[in-house]
Amino acid sequence: EPIKPKKQRLRWNAKEVEKGDYEYFMLKEIYEQPRVIADIAASGSGQVQKIADFIKKTENIYMVGCGTASYAGIAGEYLFSKIAKRHVNVSIGSEFGYDLDFLTKKSLVVAISQSGETMDVLESVKKAKARGATILALVNVLGSTLYREADKKILIGAGPEIGVASTKAFIGMLAHLVLLAYALIDKMDDGIKALTMAVKSTESILTDANVKRLMLLVKKLKTKNHIFVIGRGLSYPTALETALKIKEISYIHAEGLAAGELKHGTLALVTQGTPCIVFLPNDETYSANLAAAMEMKARGGYIVGISNKSNDVFDDFIKVDDAGEATIIPNVVVAQLLAYYLTIERGFDHDM
Ligand code: F6R
Repeated sequence: EPIKPKKQRLRWNAKEVEKGDYEYFMLKEIYEQPRVIADIAASGSGQVQKIADFIKKTENIYMVGCGTASYAGIAGEYLFSKIAKRHVNVSIGSEFGYDLDFLTKKSLVVAISQSGETMDVLESVKKAKARGATILALVNVLGSTLYREADKKILIGAGPEIGVASTKAFIGMLAHLVLLAYALIDKMDDGIKALTMAVKSTESILTDANVKRLMLLVKKLKTKNHIFVIGRGLSYPTALETALKIKEISYIHAEGLAAGELKHGTLALVTQGTPCIVFLPNDETYSANLAAAMEMKARGGYIVGISNKSNDVFDDFIKVDDAGEATIIPNVVVAQLLAYYLTIERGFDHDM
């Protein structure tokens, strides 16, 4: 039966799908991130406030995504709790079906996805809809299946992501979740302020001098078989994301975990020279993270501290300027660069 196609104009332009001066899409996409955050801070607030006003009326909130997008969900859980005092249930897409008994017609399911085509997320949405829940898509691709299936939508606006590893879309997810959390308490301006700080902090990470430092660090890590990454609070999803990126593109085994979990077993694997990446932002997690770094150091671990200030316990130090509740954004950018240059050093192709 003939159908009448509905046409929709994408706001992406052709330049965005070319590498330009960059050797790889992934690097280009990493460098686009300050602009992505700034755009969200400048123009995202209208659509976000409307959605936040709707969220205020919902009884319970679920966030669901896969891989990197699921870590955005975990970050959303901490941001909503800390800033808006709202509880969020986080599920990974493939587990959501076993975890939905409390879904009602007053539930909101935030489905997070770059592509909007990830099957486990789409299946979750189907199950949630069957229970009458409202679906909010936080999605990058306009017109994708998730975009079309959702009742409400926030377009991430990161532009096309070509490199296989999700970078700027993840940063866009985080930026929107920061804004949403502040919009829930009618303090959008504070969210925009935090994002503006995140833009500056990210720009200083992307300076040539800083990238050179990271490249030196990567030379020390490239022959290692295992890397451990830890953090607490918002740095917990950061640790998970760092480990995933390292595994996915550099093929080094990496494990991300909540710093407090170290002593429950994994510390046994930290021996002389084991690389341990520790996120220590200027927040309530600082001293507990430092204590964990010391435990790793006592076992001979090689401590890479990522923080706004140095400490004697660090063998290597990457400075990240404080960006308040949005510090997770520049921290993730450091992780992306580490994974990227580790891959280059090891002679693999990230984009594939
Ligand atoms: C990691 C990565 C994947 C995706 C995941 C979900 O770098 O790219 O873990 O995040 O496959 O994809 P989307 O966001 O398209 O649903």
